[in-house]
Amino acid sequence: MRFARLLPLVLAPLALASPEPAPRPNPVAAPAPDGTGLISELPSILSGAKELLSEDTIKDLDVIITGAAKLLSSKNIDILQDILTNAHGLLTKDFVDNTTTLIGDATPLVEDVSKLLGGVLGSL
Ligand SMILES: *[C@@H]1O[C@H](CO)[C@@H](O)[C@H](O)[C@H]1NC(C)=O
Repeated sequence: MRFARLLPLVLAPLALASPEPAPRPNPVAAPAPDGTGLISELPSILSGAKELLSEDTIKDLDVIITGAAKLLSSKNIDILQDILTNAHGLLTKDFVDNTTTLIGDATPLVEDVSKLLGGVLGSL
């Protein structure tokens, strides 16, 4: 006997077990009419996914993931931790204030040197 002829027999107990569908707490929008919406976009979505999962992309992802995994070895995590700790220590308010002052002081100097050089070069 073909499966299609058995199907009603298989589905009948399911229909009896739940005569009414359970009420939905969050009703969703009615399905889009045929030929529109997600279903019709599915082929292009799948072809995009297929493209993403091409052999080349997978190789690239493998390189990226392997590289990231190496970067995140426990040794490098310790180093990164040190760098972050030192950067954090460097970026005290005092240091930032002094560096800002330094840059502020240097700016007119650079402008003066630039004018001076411009004048010298202009007189040649
Ligand atoms: C900032 O400059 C003051 C003097 O202007 C100095 O005593 C102090 O050590 C400097 N701090 C840093 C973090 O460079």
